[in-house]
Amino acid sequence: MDGIIRFNEAIDQALAESVTFYSAQVDQARNLFLGMLGHDLRNPLHTIQMTAFYLAALNADAKVSEAAGRLINSGRHMQALLDDLLDFNRTSLGLGINITPGDVDLSQLCAGALDQLRPANPGRRIDLEVHGDTCGSWDSKRLQQLLGNLVRNAIKYGAPDAPVYVDLNGDTAGVVLEVRNSGPVIEPSDLDRIFDPLKRGSDNENNRDADGSLGLGLYIAREIARGHGGSIEARSDENETVFTVRLPRSHYIEYETREQL
Ligand SMILES: Nc1ncnc2c1ncn2[C@@H]1O[C@H](COP(=O)(O)OP(=O)(O)OP(=O)(O)O)[C@@H](O)[C@H]1O
Ligand SMILES: [Mg+2]
Repeated sequence: MDGIIRFNEAIDQALAESVTFYSAQVDQARNLFLGMLGHDLRNPLHTIQMTAFYLAALNADAKVSEAAGRLINSGRHMQALLDDLLDFNRTSLGLGINITPGDVDLSQLCAGALDQLRPANPGRRIDLEVHGDTCGSWDSKRLQQLLGNLVRNAIKYGAPDAPVYVDLNGDTAGVVLEVRNSGPVIEPSDLDRIFDPLKRGSDNENNRDADGSLGLGLYIAREIARGHGGSIEARSDENETVFTVRLPRSHYIEYETREQL
């Protein structure tokens, strides 16, 4: 009898190990497929974007310039979706988000990024206010991606007639970036889970947007903040919804200094 029980337990364990192994292989194959698809879509998208810039530069007539402008904006949006998808893919494969730091003035970076976001959202006020020293060692592309995700959310989920405010405050510890909007309150139960991958607020959970939102923007934003040794948090009440990003001026210098102590 004992022998049969041991035999059954061994079979159960072997089955459980096989299922775990098999599902890990399926996950890996799906992630590799998504990564390759995202990667290969970049080349044709790049050609579409270059053609749109070429058409816009022709200064042909108002209709052509308008159509080229729409192509440029949609191309930028598609690029942002692909970037988020590829980053999610990298983290799923255990590769993490790569950060390449360089000298950055965050106030200039934000001003430039907001100039690119305004034409896609005509009629929306997006204000930038800067205090203190906003220079540091960060990955400029990654911070543009982070800011873009937060501002696009504020425009999309905030009250349609209310401005979006971007504030930068430099102090000795680093720089604090805040993106604020008024509008619907994020429920306290949603405040933490919206940073999880593929999670959307309860209002949007089952809602498939025309623009293909996946629920990845805040997850990527948090990975980028953490990759710089920083953090991101959200608070929301009837007055406003605020996303606060804290960035040490230089993650790597701080780390090296700590190591030497
Ligand atoms: N400023 C905001 N005001 C109200 N709700 C917000 C705001 N920003 C984010 N949310 C909520 O958090 C959820 C998750 O945001 P996230 O940016 O991660 O995904 P998404 O916008 O749904 O999709 P994606 O960014 O991948 O296109 C959103 O679906 C929305 O419910
Ligand atoms: Mg988003």
